[in-house]
Amino acid sequence: MKVVRTIEELRSQLQGQNRTSFVPTMGNLHAGHMSLMRIARQYGDPVVASVFVNRLQFGPNEDFDKYPRTLDDDLEKLQREGVYVCFAPDESVMYPEPQEYRVQPPHDLADILEGEFRPGFFGGVCTVVLKLFNCVQPRAAVFGKKDYQQLMIVRRMARQFALPTEIVAADTVRDSDGLALSSRNRYLSPEERAEAPRLYRVLNDVREKALASRDDPASLPRIEASAMQHLAWAGWKPDYVAIRKRGNLLPPTPEENAAGEPLVVLAAARLGATRLIDNLEI
Ligand code: PAJ
Repeated sequence: MKVVRTIEELRSQLQGQNRTSFVPTMGNLHAGHMSLMRIARQYGDPVVASVFVNRLQFGPNEDFDKYPRTLDDDLEKLQREGVYVCFAPDESVMYPEPQEYRVQPPHDLADILEGEFRPGFFGGVCTVVLKLFNCVQPRAAVFGKKDYQQLMIVRRMARQFALPTEIVAADTVRDSDGLALSSRNRYLSPEERAEAPRLYRVLNDVREKALASRDDPASLPRIEASAMQHLAWAGWKPDYVAIRKRGNLLPPTPEENAAGEPLVVLAAARLGATRLIDNLEI
């Protein structure tokens, strides 16, 4: 595996390749990330991964400096997975001058759910993803459903900018008790780690209830509220539990719900000091 630090090196490594597939990450890689590398291999060759902690997507109260940086470990994992090139730029490479031109994702998609609690987050994500795409010029790029809203936002960006990159969705990888793998799980105390799978159980419960009451127009808000209450009783601080349409993440109308619209339930909640997100397609 080649580790490249600059855009020039990256371009020269990828010269003449037109079936590249790409997995952008912020490093601290776990089995969820590695599953993306394997999926990428089915969509193109060579597989390029990036490791870059993107300051633009961190809010003023989110600790950019404390984000876990484990590059040596990450490179070993990528090498073992057969990744061809890892692009690991410094900030001086990605942002040699202030990034004044930014992607502004649409309010209706980017200022709800995660965007409501993390203002500016998706603008920062879109800006770096577009820039990374311009560096790598991939035929396909793989994103995890773990970050469902991010996937939908990147997919719409690719469509509206006519990017030549197919956006591929990868299923969420979970521990055996259901907890979605995340870099943030390392911050959980042993007690919190034992409690954490409740989030996925609640999502499954919401899914079952939503499927069982497609015909009842008042059911979805009730199901959402009772899931939030359940989490709060168990000591969590829920930000949202929301049942939405898969494509645009807007609430379904009662008619759409009754007609069997494909839905997804998304949730974010704090357990102690750690904020966890998860979702489940209905
Ligand atoms: P990061 O959090 O490192 O995640 C990189 C990719 O791994 C994302 O597509 C994410 O959805 C996926 N992922 C994380 N946990 C997963 C799991 N348990 N199962 C499957 N996939 C999982 O997301 C980002 O970085 C950044 O926002 C980025 C897109 C790199 C832009 O900076």
